[in-house]
Amino acid sequence: MSAVDLIVAKRDGGELGDQQIRWFIEGVTSGAIPAEQAAALLMAVVWRGMTPRELATWTAAMIDSGRRLDLSSLARPTVDKHSTGGVGDKVSLVLCPLLAACGAAVPQLSGRGLGHTGGTLDKMEAISGWRAALSHDQFLGQLQEVGAVIAAATADLAPADRVLYALRDVTGTVASIPLIASSIMSKKIAEGTAGLVLDVKFGSGAFLPDPAMGTELARTMVSLGHAHGVETVALLTDMDQPLGLAAGNALEVAEAIEALAGDGPTDLVEVTLALADEMVALAGLDADPAEMLGAGRAMDAWRAMVVAQGGDPAASLPTAPVVDHWTAPAAGVISRIDALDVGSAAWRLGAGRARKEDAVSAAAGVRLRRVAGDRVAAGEVIAELHTDDPALLPAAHEALSQALTLTDTAPEPRRLIASRITRSSPPPEKPSDSVVFSQ
Ligand code: URA
Repeated sequence: MSAVDLIVAKRDGGELGDQQIRWFIEGVTSGAIPAEQAAALLMAVVWRGMTPRELATWTAAMIDSGRRLDLSSLARPTVDKHSTGGVGDKVSLVLCPLLAACGAAVPQLSGRGLGHTGGTLDKMEAISGWRAALSHDQFLGQLQEVGAVIAAATADLAPADRVLYALRDVTGTVASIPLIASSIMSKKIAEGTAGLVLDVKFGSGAFLPDPAMGTELARTMVSLGHAHGVETVALLTDMDQPLGLAAGNALEVAEAIEALAGDGPTDLVEVTLALADEMVALAGLDADPAEMLGAGRAMDAWRAMVVAQGGDPAASLPTAPVVDHWTAPAAGVISRIDALDVGSAAWRLGAGRARKEDAVSAAAGVRLRRVAGDRVAAGEVIAELHTDDPALLPAAHEALSQALTLTDTAPEPRRLIASRITRSSPPPEKPSDSVVFSQ
């Protein structure tokens, strides 16, 4: 077989055969296919897309490039959540222990954040002593005992994605629904969960701002999950404004703990409980997540989850030596605070990384003091900017310069959950033909 034949066939709109796709994924994983040929095929896929059969084979080959975990020995039903990522999205920190308290096992294997959306592992690493790396036996033991694990994915889990994602990141080939769907789902299917709830974000802070594109991605992932025996449901949720008040690692952990204590921001709690209800239903459990949260049972599971991974849940979280303020330029009612701008500001303050080798600051980030619907006076503080290095403040202020929309009247209430996509959801009336990516 020749890589050039595959590239030319896809470039010209042809359909690749199962053997060709499997040969390509194996060659990429082993290094037998050089990066320039792999990248050329990826770009052809960006332009030409994939047929459902191509996508099914491509995803299966990515799963088969490594190990598929077997969690069938656990006494608890397994169910996980994946979010396409957003600003202030600390839902996993509340949701995983909440589902553990409801009786499930949540095997959340995650990656680190890149760009303006933070990574769950980076957030957890703000907790003193907590470690992301677990052996397979530790992973299984914790799932059984505690019911929730947030840990780093091991190198043998869909290794083809590791190679392909690194290439896509530097060749402008992230922007493709079949490539994103196969990348996310190959990892989640290999993780061994029986049920999966997808939180597909739309709006300025999302990977795919356009809701129609988010819907298409959700439908594609839901159908891939079912094809591999994973019961999958997606919620399409609003990421046009930050979720909660905090964006930045330790700031988000603190806010998640507030939510676990029953005192979280209403938008964070609403999204978390909506996802939790879906997960409880998929796992076939007879539990009420709102009740569990209110009774403090999720907080107990959180402490157990942190302790099991070497963390000290009672230790103080890191704080930044410098806290500056972002103020309102005029009086008015806040109708919108742009999520992407807040995420960029947190990133510029040190909370995120530009390259995957970069370190992140645990303490840096943005904490909003005002949100949409609040009336503010000129000069009033809208947010605190936390950083280790005052030289980073001007870039953060610059990122926020267009973030605020002030009006005379109160905005419409935010609708956080736009739709629910299941295997039986009807197809869109007209497939969308434009792709607008935020990165
Ligand atoms: N997240 C992933 O894991 N893969 C993608 O392709 C995009 C986002």
